[in-house]
Amino acid sequence: MPFRGKVRILQNYHFSLKAVEKMEAKKKSGFTSSIGFVLAAAGSAVGVGNIWRFPYLAARDGGGLFLLVYLALVLTFGFTLLTTDIAIGRKTGKNAWQAFESIRSRWGFLGKITFLVPAMIMTYYSVIGGWILKYTTVYITGQQHMAAQDGFFTSFITSQVAPIVFMLVFLAMTAFVVYSGVEKGIEKFSSVVMPGLLLMIIGIAIYALTLTHTDADGVTRTGLQGLAVYLTPNLTDLTFSRFLQILLDAMSQLFFSLSVSMGIMITYGTYVKKDVDLSKSISQVEFFDTGVALLAGMMIIPTIYVFSGTEGMASGPSLMFVSLPKVFESMGFAGTLVGIVFFVMILFAALTSCVSIMETLVSTCMNIFHCSRRKTSFMIFAISFSAAVVICLGYNVLYFEYTLPNGAVAQLLDIMDYISNSFLMPLIAFLTAVFVGWVIKPEWIADEMEIGSVGFHKKRLYSFMVRHVVPVVMALLFFQSTGLLGWIGMAFQ
Ligand code: PHE
Repeated sequence: MPFRGKVRILQNYHFSLKAVEKMEAKKKSGFTSSIGFVLAAAGSAVGVGNIWRFPYLAARDGGGLFLLVYLALVLTFGFTLLTTDIAIGRKTGKNAWQAFESIRSRWGFLGKITFLVPAMIMTYYSVIGGWILKYTTVYITGQQHMAAQDGFFTSFITSQVAPIVFMLVFLAMTAFVVYSGVEKGIEKFSSVVMPGLLLMIIGIAIYALTLTHTDADGVTRTGLQGLAVYLTPNLTDLTFSRFLQILLDAMSQLFFSLSVSMGIMITYGTYVKKDVDLSKSISQVEFFDTGVALLAGMMIIPTIYVFSGTEGMASGPSLMFVSLPKVFESMGFAGTLVGIVFFVMILFAALTSCVSIMETLVSTCMNIFHCSRRKTSFMIFAISFSAAVVICLGYNVLYFEYTLPNGAVAQLLDIMDYISNSFLMPLIAFLTAVFVGWVIKPEWIADEMEIGSVGFHKKRLYSFMVRHVVPVVMALLFFQSTGLLGWIGMAFQ
């Protein structure tokens, strides 16, 4: 063979080796360590749900009673749903869109519905992220007095340009992390941000317990008294239907908080190596997520209690953007510092959550359209931005009031939230539990859980939950949040 021919063969060999290496590298894209995975998954789980929604639900739903119910649910439902998602992801190596189909082709539809949830949440999560970014800048630039004024929040979200600009910046930060990839973007970012977030929340929670304040009537309230309000189970006026309500509130909070039944944890599961002990990592994620929620309550409830007593504590969504800035204002200089740390912390929490939503969309579209991460990130960024602009306009140009089946008056953002969280998530959890429990059988998941570990200790609990408990309770939750439970109840009266 002439020399040139040999060189060409060698070159071709070299190129194909490179192509194989490249493909291998692509395939191997994933979390480098189990702690990297835990922090990324905790980054997704810990978000505005923990810091904003959990405390007001706890205040509204009987303090310690809600906490007990929630803890019991985390250890049973939370564990079951998180295990299901992550094991499906790691075992199939596919996103929800293709995973269900690859297991049983008739169940492909479930993957498509599951994909809808992050697609819908993406439209409004960045809008809320933009609001948080706005407050962070207000506090950092020393304009905290403005944030404490009546009407500040409403006038901000109803203005036409500012919410879009802040949303755009928040979305660009999210897209940058996703664009940088799983190891260099998501894992690295979460590994820095999550420990920082934990330190900040512990710091403010301890500070909250040291507060005391005497109001105009001469009544002094302390942070420790506030802690007692938070932790003591309030059993007055407890009826069966009230207890059921608390249970369902805790359940829907748990879903949203753990980012389960929406394909996100399936996607993160695909990035976990086979030698990682999934049971251990799942417990760590649950512990992190619940720990942050409990600390958030320990920080917010005593703080509000000290400065404004028990009223205003369960003020719902306005808690973070309206009540807290007023409380920070009454704390004087310390309030400014606490305000800065608080909003930076919640910004971190919202960013890592939004990253997980966008990553799920990007990774799924990369697989469907066989496109590079770069191109897909740009596309998803552009589409998400356009959708989020429409949501922002829902507070001015496109403003309307719509009464949801559960009785709440809603704008565009609330409608997207309602469809994704109250309608689709329980439905998906129900279908997934039926699929795992009765079609492919719990062993399918248990086999995966045993890889990389000494055994799946909670196998019996898992099987029982996924077959018998989750489907029933999810159906109940679905009926309750769609308002159908009320109708059924009326029919029996
Ligand atoms: N789990 C996040 C929280 O508690 C919210 C979230 C929902 C994140 C959906 C990702 C997807 O705030």
